[in-house]
Amino acid sequence: MDTIPPPPQAAVHPPFNKGEPPAEEEARRELGMRMRRKPWARPELANCEFFVSSPCENIGKWHKCFKKKQPIHIELGCGKGVFIAKLASMHPEINYMAVDIKNEMLAVAKRNIEQEYVGAGHCACPTEINNILLMSQEIMLIQNMMNEKDAVDRIYINFCNPWPKRTHNKRRLTHTNQLEKYKIFLKPDGEIYFKTDDDELFESSLNYFEEAGFEIVKTTYDLHEEPKFWDNIETEHEIIFSNEGIKIKALIAKLK
Ligand SMILES: C[S@@+](CC[C@H](N)C(=O)[O-])C[C@H]1O[C@@H](n2cnc3c(N)ncnc32)[C@H](O)[C@@H]1O
Repeated sequence: MDTIPPPPQAAVHPPFNKGEPPAEEEARRELGMRMRRKPWARPELANCEFFVSSPCENIGKWHKCFKKKQPIHIELGCGKGVFIAKLASMHPEINYMAVDIKNEMLAVAKRNIEQEYVGAGHCACPTEINNILLMSQEIMLIQNMMNEKDAVDRIYINFCNPWPKRTHNKRRLTHTNQLEKYKIFLKPDGEIYFKTDDDELFESSLNYFEEAGFEIVKTTYDLHEEPKFWDNIETEHEIIFSNEGIKIKALIAKLK
């Protein structure tokens, strides 16, 4: 019988140096994102009541997948779920969807969510967690999972891969082509909350948002120096970058 190890205490990634050439930095970032295989991930997710195993089957029906009908916010590339776990447990009046492509990440996110809800006393047991759904999906194909009936109020994109090579730019989660896909399921007055450590990605994203018909309603080049910008919840990557002295860039974009 497989022994399931206890929940991880903190997100750990190898640090990378801002000064190194982009290719190396990208490779190291990829390394940081790669996780050791977790044989327990799939079985644990399969038994998790808030994990959706075939998300594309729910296209156009996401509002019916939650216990209460209330606004939906979605995080794209949730990683180990540190951010969404805190946010969702603090906001029972919102339904949250957390998407990542890697089951290993999602399994850690599942544990972090349970720890946040039950450990922090928001719920008595994991079966009471009813305003968050976790799912594995390639975000480049998000249009297979969401349509206009899913009417989402807010999208969060936190520290997505910067894909610095010009030939890879189209893989950015904030690329114009991606934003066009998000427009299908974002409500007319919906917003995208984006934060990153990467200067070039941030500057390009300002253009991508404009190009896709979004209005940038707020920007900061040093989020941690602007406590009133929004009620910030740090992600696992944000903690690593800010500990290295890297300033966090952030924006809110709204559909025009
Ligand atoms: C750099 S990590 C950031 C994680 C977290 N948001 C944070 O701020 O700490 C990027 C995450 O996005 C996921 N990801 C990257 N590209 C993706 C894609 N095309 N589809 C789905 N998930 C993706 C990765 O698996 C990874 O967990």
